[in-house]
Amino acid sequence: MSKQLNIPIGDISIGKKKRFEISGKKITVYHLQDGWFALDDECTHKGASLVQGVIIDDHIIECPRHGARFDIKTGKVLALPATHPLKTYKVLVEGDEVVVMIEDDECCGGSGAQDGCCGGQCGCGKNGH
Ligand code: FES
Repeated sequence: MSKQLNIPIGDISIGKKKRFEISGKKITVYHLQDGWFALDDECTHKGASLVQGVIIDDHIIECPRHGARFDIKTGKVLALPATHPLKTYKVLVEGDEVVVMIEDDECCGGSGAQDGCCGGQCGCGKNGH
């Protein structure tokens, strides 16, 4: 089942970011000139918290530990040493709230998959099993 994170729109001013934790996921929400974006907080290189990083040119987050850079709008890696993108989350603005949609991790679709989930038979460790 998917979850959502509701944030008062005045909570994060333009050019700022804030980290939230929901269902064991650490997600950083960014308020840029171009709107709102949400990505995993952990750097895909060695797991540093990106909320401690610096926003560059209003769309890049730089990891505070080794300097990897990610595109805040897409999660794409823009500079090493990270090589894997950050997971992004859908963000909606509804009235005076920002809503971050958090989908469950998808099943790997391994053997025994039914209705998009194997029910734990594949041993992937995803989707709560
Ligand atoms: S932990 Fe982020 S670049 Fe190494």
